[in-house]
Amino acid sequence: MTMADAHDPFAHLHDENYADGFAAGAATASTLVQSGGRVVESLDGPWRLTLDLFDEGLRQKWYAEDDMPPSQWATPRDYEIAAGDLVPVPSCWNLLKPEWTHFEGAAWYTRDVDWVPAKPGERVMLQIGGANYALLAFLNGGFVGGHRGGSTPCSLDLTQALRPGRNRLQIMVENRRRADRVPMHHIDWFNYGGLYREIGLMRLPGLFIRQVAVALAPGSDRQAIAARVTLSEARDASATLRIPELGIETRIAIEAGQGIVEIPACPALWSPDDPRLYEVEIVCGEDVWRDRIGFREIRTEGTEILLNGRSILLAGVCVHEDDAARGKTSTEADIRRRFRHARELGANFLRLAHYPHHELVARIADEEGLLLWAEVPVYWAIDFGNPETYADAENQLLELVARDINRASVIIWGVGNENADTDARYRFMADLAARARQADPTRLIAAACLINRERFAIEDRLADHLDIIGINEYFGWYEPDVANLERLVANSAPDKPVIISETGADALLGHRGAGRVLFSEDWQAEFYRLQMVVVSRTPWIRGIAAWLLYDFRSERRQTGFQRGFNRKGLIADDKSSKKMAFDVLAELYRRYR
Ligand code: GCU
Repeated sequence: MTMADAHDPFAHLHDENYADGFAAGAATASTLVQSGGRVVESLDGPWRLTLDLFDEGLRQKWYAEDDMPPSQWATPRDYEIAAGDLVPVPSCWNLLKPEWTHFEGAAWYTRDVDWVPAKPGERVMLQIGGANYALLAFLNGGFVGGHRGGSTPCSLDLTQALRPGRNRLQIMVENRRRADRVPMHHIDWFNYGGLYREIGLMRLPGLFIRQVAVALAPGSDRQAIAARVTLSEARDASATLRIPELGIETRIAIEAGQGIVEIPACPALWSPDDPRLYEVEIVCGEDVWRDRIGFREIRTEGTEILLNGRSILLAGVCVHEDDAARGKTSTEADIRRRFRHARELGANFLRLAHYPHHELVARIADEEGLLLWAEVPVYWAIDFGNPETYADAENQLLELVARDINRASVIIWGVGNENADTDARYRFMADLAARARQADPTRLIAAACLINRERFAIEDRLADHLDIIGINEYFGWYEPDVANLERLVANSAPDKPVIISETGADALLGHRGAGRVLFSEDWQAEFYRLQMVVVSRTPWIRGIAAWLLYDFRSERRQTGFQRGFNRKGLIADDKSSKKMAFDVLAELYRRYR
């Protein structure tokens, strides 16, 4: 028994509301602090980790315990920080010990933080790049905030709780799959858990710049730049926007923490051929926010997608964050390899499936001139009628937008994938699309939509709320007859651009066979030949995203060909062995674009 409750040491055995009271401290999109080029003091490295299948940590308040050695314990305990494993952060616990591979539950990360205050009145934010799925953070035994959403960042204010000298930071991360979550409990990827992206402390002045959005002003015919600044508090202030290479220096009046300015400007436009980025700086009081931003316009006209006024075709590939050694933890080298392979494939476009990927992905795509579809995991049978589920989905979307709003490479926000057509789904996703448009009027909104099976035509009432209709189709794989793709095209007359947001076939590296031999490299290659015949001659299909670049882990897949992997990669899970289809598609893409 711990010291949980001096009066009744057994109270925690009867309290199933042990998690109540933490929801209030949830970090959301509105509290997120963009990095903005500001220094983050890294807390990556070794942390103590204790798995907690039964939520004992919250039941018995492990966060409130002192870390006295066992020799000094007055009563027995069930938790001892030093008994935890020393693990690297960022990482996924599933890949640290074989017995943790399939662990789904809570886990307690602990490390000391030695703090030296710099300036009086400074604020200190704990910046967490990503933790799957939900987290609660405690500093020196006190709750400092929580977050839900397995792929978006959060900022927790440690200013009040942090003290000079040694501090103890504990973060409980929990990755249970649940029907009311986003994604829900049934997914075709691996449910990694842990503090799997970078974590650090950001020092800020008392009043600081929380979020900034800078882009070509919508409706300005690419002749003006608009900037929106959000401060940490609803106070009046003044800020300065500088874009030295454009000779821009202008004042932004801020009222109640919000400031907007629009200035005439003719920047060289960002595009895949010329991914031009500008240094942009916003100064407000003592705080300086900086970023490198590309200016481009993306819109649709009829069934065309126009980048800077010119019609484009998207030759793309989908990617997951999944690595044999690191799981969902992405490194810069890993991201650059993904882009190198995409380039070799002749792709100018990537769909980041099915959740927000690491912040670096869009930053590097900005430099490299790749176009991105970024989405939130509103995947399959989401609990669409549940307002809490909607709030979670909307917040993940707004966090993604807040984080990547200045990334020229991101041209599409995806609000969902393959969701059955119910009224609840229609309402949920239409609201999400409207919310995305409101938060960011400069990008296109899409979703992987449905086919009307009776009429065998592209038809989804959700499309009325979208700019782009995504269609996942597997004619030639799940549906054996490729000719049905032609039939679908013949029966459809969309008035918006369509992107084949997924298509592909499984192939086990080295498995061969003539004709339609399932899981053979030959059939995967032939599959793409047959697909591209139809795609390249259908004027309203303006892009395709092959499913997908690499084989990836999925516990749904258990044949001898699959063994826990989805094998639709054009490259095997070793991230280097190309299958036949890779070169076939590369050749087709060179002709397509
Ligand atoms: C679906 C789904 C993917 C999945 C793919 C497949 O379309 O969106 O997440 O992995 O099909 O079956 O391989």
